[in-house]
Amino acid sequence: MTETTENPLRAGMRIERSAPPCSIVIFGASGDLTKRKLVPALFKLVQERLIPAEFAIVGVARQQFSDEEFRAQMREAIAEYGDLENISEEVWESFARGLFYRQGDFRDSASYEALRDSLKEIDAERATRGNHLFYLATAPSYFGLIAEELGKAELAQPAEGSWTRIIIEKPFGHDLESARKLNAELAAVFKEEQVYRIDHYLGKETVQNLLVFRFANSIFEPLWNRQYIDHVQITNAEAIGVEGRGAYYEETGLVRDMIQNHVFQVTSLIAMEPPASLSANGVRDEKIKAMMAVRAIAPEHVNEVAVRGQYGPGYVLGEKVAGYREEPGVNPESSTETFAALKLYFDNWRWAGVPFYLRSGKRLPRRVTEIAIQFKDVPHRLFTETDSPLEPNVLVVRIQPNEGITLRFGAKLPGQATRIRWVNMDFRYGSSFGVEPPEAYERLLLDCLLGDSTLYARRDMTERGWEIVTPILEAWAEPAKDFPNYAAGTPGPQSANELIERDGREWRRI
Ligand code: BG6
Repeated sequence: MTETTENPLRAGMRIERSAPPCSIVIFGASGDLTKRKLVPALFKLVQERLIPAEFAIVGVARQQFSDEEFRAQMREAIAEYGDLENISEEVWESFARGLFYRQGDFRDSASYEALRDSLKEIDAERATRGNHLFYLATAPSYFGLIAEELGKAELAQPAEGSWTRIIIEKPFGHDLESARKLNAELAAVFKEEQVYRIDHYLGKETVQNLLVFRFANSIFEPLWNRQYIDHVQITNAEAIGVEGRGAYYEETGLVRDMIQNHVFQVTSLIAMEPPASLSANGVRDEKIKAMMAVRAIAPEHVNEVAVRGQYGPGYVLGEKVAGYREEPGVNPESSTETFAALKLYFDNWRWAGVPFYLRSGKRLPRRVTEIAIQFKDVPHRLFTETDSPLEPNVLVVRIQPNEGITLRFGAKLPGQATRIRWVNMDFRYGSSFGVEPPEAYERLLLDCLLGDSTLYARRDMTERGWEIVTPILEAWAEPAKDFPNYAAGTPGPQSANELIERDGREWRRI
């Protein structure tokens, strides 16, 4: 904080990026997301003066609480889940004055009418200029309904000179059909520019850096294509299991939970062409264009390009853990996947013939999300008489943890003989900048308040994600005969190794 107030450059940027006055209405205010992410992020933004004093946060949920009770709960949430060492009393007092709670039943039109009346009063009291953000932190089954009711209560379209936006959380549908239906329900009430589909991976600093890395440097882009790149590996591994969300996971599975959204978003940033501008549509047009080039998976080829896994009992980071089928809320014969690996091809000029291997899983040996760009071998081997075999150059972008970028290359070992050792050129966020990256939700909430949807998923992208995975989901509707097929704490099933080894390549170690 002190650093930002003292640094004149940062101060300038802050003025530029601070949000306009507004009321933020959170549906599902008694839920986990509100406590863990939304309110701590909003508090931090207020503390950093990125949200002005003229704001209001209105929690809506079914339970009955007074404003005071809601404020007390949110204070606890900020202490528990926020990343602040101390909560400044002064900031808290002014934050709390902007916190309100309104009991409401999402299915009852009267609740929305009451909310509209409350908002009128709150807007006047807090001088929010009638700007409204509705955040749907509810079960997905309510998304369409809440949008419709907001429309009926005349809350969906802004008054002259104000704005109204809506944020929805994933999952955006359960499959292509339901995603289309949800998007149509939203479009019946809101214009696409008003709809912000949040994908928290896009709020990660390192994911945003992919654009800077690729398009603010001249040396990588000439190599970023089929002529120099052998293949791309994108790994998203988690050490955690389903963390008490067994019932949710049974409905979802890994492809729906991670691949269709987070992993595809990251993939599109690697595969896209340079955008003409950094406008929201400039960037998103290029992302969707890249994803449109993904080769469709024929139903009879699913097994060749996609493998699924489910963890059994095992040891993760030295601790004994239960198998997925033993988790609460999980069917003891479940065929839900907790691991998936797939191979994609982009049928376009840049990537023709370059496979993208994607994998993601729970209860893998450790938490790591990274992108590895593996370059082709040298065209002719000069150094044949060396004791270490030649390795390809690899550029690794570490999304989390140890955020950074590493380039691996061969170097001569000092001495009379010509011996090659493989070394890393390493950039680390922590040591280079010495600051913690902001939480994804802070960045994304602020962007939405500023009307910048670059880091939000557009309608076409969510539907395209479903289109790509549909053949896989359909094939996997058949029960898996070999589940569980990997022990917790191991890097996934043997079939995932076979997927890549068939092509004469191998996965990087997790
Ligand atoms: C969520 C998934 O969207 O992302 C979770 O529902 C997953 O299952 C989480 O654990 C991973 O996010 P992160 O930021 O910890 O990589």
